Amino acid sequence: MTATVHVDLPGRAYDIIIGPGVLDQAGARIAAMGGRRHICILTDETVAGLHLASLQASLAAAGLTSQALALPPGEGTKCWAQLERSVEWLLAQKVERGDIVVAFGGGVIGDLAGFAAAILRRGVRFVQIPSSLLAQVDSSVGGKTGINSPIGKNLIGAFHQPSLVLADTALLGTLTSRDFLAGYGEVVKYGLLGDAAFFDWLEAEGPALARGDMAARVRAVTRSCQMKADIVQRDETEQGDRALLNLGHTFCHALEAATGYSDRLLHGEGVAIGCALAFELSARLGLCSQEDPSRVRAHLRDMGMKVDIADIGGDLPDAAGLLALMGQDKKVVDGKLRFILARGIGDAFITSDVPREAVLGVLQDALDQTRR
Ligand code: GLY
Repeated sequence: MTATVHVDLPGRAYDIIIGPGVLDQAGARIAAMGGRRHICILTDETVAGLHLASLQASLAAAGLTSQALALPPGEGTKCWAQLERSVEWLLAQKVERGDIVVAFGGGVIGDLAGFAAAILRRGVRFVQIPSSLLAQVDSSVGGKTGINSPIGKNLIGAFHQPSLVLADTALLGTLTSRDFLAGYGEVVKYGLLGDAAFFDWLEAEGPALARGDMAARVRAVTRSCQMKADIVQRDETEQGDRALLNLGHTFCHALEAATGYSDRLLHGEGVAIGCALAFELSARLGLCSQEDPSRVRAHLRDMGMKVDIADIGGDLPDAAGLLALMGQDKKVVDGKLRFILARGIGDAFITSDVPREAVLGVLQDALDQTRR
């Protein structure tokens, strides 16, 4: 049940290996990449408690020694202090230019460890072993690495492609249902942005996939990674098409900022709500049919996910306040907000030509629901 997606970037090509149990192949695959026989692993305390022994056993079986630094779990770890700690630890471990650093965890660890690898000795190779669904389908693939600034998320970073990604779908079994479904928000995003047949399949198989159907999980992760690889191959540094991957993210980042990047709203939950709002905005602008946003929302509802701003709960800024928070987004170009809108399910496009009043209208109506 193992699948491989190849990311074909000149001089930086790599494979994404997907399937249950691929963690056990980590040692043999990493040993085959050369470098020192000592592997440094950056992970978080939760993942370390659950899975680090398996990873280290696989490395040992391939004749590799290893040492791990387990950082605190949570978005707060993507900060200067933990980056400094990680880089200094890697230097103390005597990591050299030809060596390999392993990022073992969810999106936070992947982004931070990837950035540490990007700046250490002007760049060392790293292997992503993503443990969350969100990291397996999105953040571990494509080479975006970085940390957050108090000014905003992911504002400090670099493009640095991994040399290998091992997405062990059996690890998803230890996620909470909430974390799993948050990652599923990114899976739905792929169907919505570029593959209507995949969205049809998710409507049919999503509930089984959430219950643990392994073949469905492998297929969903593989299709998501394939779509991401295709886009990254066309546009590695987001000069154009890569921005399609930000479907739902302009709304999402405003909602995340409004909720203080806290547990009130996980990133993938914000992406799902953001996708529903992007389709609502597209329908109001006459770009897609009215049925499309209803279908998006029905699927998210079927999956037991947050669908509307009203599902977040608690106080939120007004519509103008949320719009102002969108202005902090990296996707602002020359002061204009860039949106990913859709002509239909599976047919997204990038535009800076969105009337402010239309965005305000969508936000206002969504906020009005929270007061009903
Ligand atoms: N997560 C969006 C991207 O990698 O471009």
